[in-house]
Amino acid sequence: MAKKQNESRVNRSVSAQPRFHQRAQEIQAYGTVNHALPLDLEEPVRVQITNDLNQLLADTMTLRDLYKKCHWQVAGPTFYQLHLLYDKHYDEQNELVDAIAERIQLLGGVSLAMAADVAETTQIERPPRGREEVPVQLSRLIDAHQIIIQQSRPLARRAAELGDDGTNDLVVSDVVRTNELQLWFLSEHLVDVPLVEAKERATVATAS
Ligand SMILES: [Fe+2]
Repeated sequence: MAKKQNESRVNRSVSAQPRFHQRAQEIQAYGTVNHALPLDLEEPVRVQITNDLNQLLADTMTLRDLYKKCHWQVAGPTFYQLHLLYDKHYDEQNELVDAIAERIQLLGGVSLAMAADVAETTQIERPPRGREEVPVQLSRLIDAHQIIIQQSRPLARRAAELGDDGTNDLVVSDVVRTNELQLWFLSEHLVDVPLVEAKERATVATAS
């Protein structure tokens, strides 16, 4: 038997030519978890948590990309500050994407990755391809944050109840806090305050 294996190795031609256009069966199907690392988390727990995290991942990737769309397409007197703010939030969401995806993998699951799969999964409304006004950009972003926050808190509680404290910590400390803070920064831009002249000018007392 060992002799046969050695012969087949010898018979394979050695060549410097790279092997292009290779395809093979998946090594793990989406939606499954593989053999556990010694994490002390049972398979049903890891199946449930990785499914939940993939929904969170799809929505976070969509919000991240919505930020880049807004960064490129913003127009108007607040162009510069919003152009910078949107990109800062994009970078922070991008870090969350990586943290969520790698959490799914370490739990034995398979992370969503490609745009078409994300588009089929996300709960965030698809915006038009064209440019939109600043208040609409801000509203879309805030709605997306709301969708993420709404699912994150129950997910964090479920993870804690199932004994997955690592996921609970990731969702509470990183996902919820980042999204709450970003939502606040956006929301303050939708307060309708005067830019130059106060609406009702108070009488200014003058020294006699
Ligand atoms: Fe840029």
